[in-house]
Amino acid sequence: MATSSAQLTSEFGNPNLEPMLAAEQIQTRITALGAEIARDYSGRNPLLIGVLKGACIFISDLLRAIDAPLAIEFMAISSYGSSTRTSGEVRIVKDLDVAIEGRDILVVEDIVDTGLTLSYLLANLKSRGARSVKLVALLDKPDRRRKEATVEIDYLGFTIPDAFVVGYGLDYAERYRNLPYIAILKDPNA
Ligand code: IMP
Ligand code: MG
Repeated sequence: MATSSAQLTSEFGNPNLEPMLAAEQIQTRITALGAEIARDYSGRNPLLIGVLKGACIFISDLLRAIDAPLAIEFMAISSYGSSTRTSGEVRIVKDLDVAIEGRDILVVEDIVDTGLTLSYLLANLKSRGARSVKLVALLDKPDRRRKEATVEIDYLGFTIPDAFVVGYGLDYAERYRNLPYIAILKDPNA
């Protein structure tokens, strides 16, 4: 065998990625968010709803930063559109297995971009008779928000500029969710 360099190619060090938020920065922010949520929901047993698949890593870390009784569920939503742009049409692909009437809901999402997905989801959950519905988002791209979107982020990790980011659960065509950090994807076609 000539050289093994091809086998050693690093995904985490992929040159098409420009690091934006380091793993330690993300953890530090999550620790603070968890403490804030534990304080705000004292005595209330909230139900955290993770939006698959992007929020899977964020919710796993966030859960362990909330020192209070809670439960988790997952939903999956599909928005019609290309891999980097949302069309605004939303469909529930995996619904909740439990009733949420009277519950205090915290929706946990990876990123709010146009806000169309969450406008739909939050309205849908409110219509099921939850006592409260609040939103935790790791990332917010306010420059991309569409005016018809009605999304208020109650707990936010980081505000970021208008760039397509991957890692820590966020993907491009299902790739890069496993990066321990968040990076700008420089060239989606590379
Ligand atoms: P919205 O409806 O435009 O707010 O889109 C939200 C969804 O689009 C997120 O939950 C992500 O799945 C996806 N998305 C938006 N921006 C990005 C990004 O920069 N990287 C990866 N996924 C993104
Ligand atoms: Mg998502």
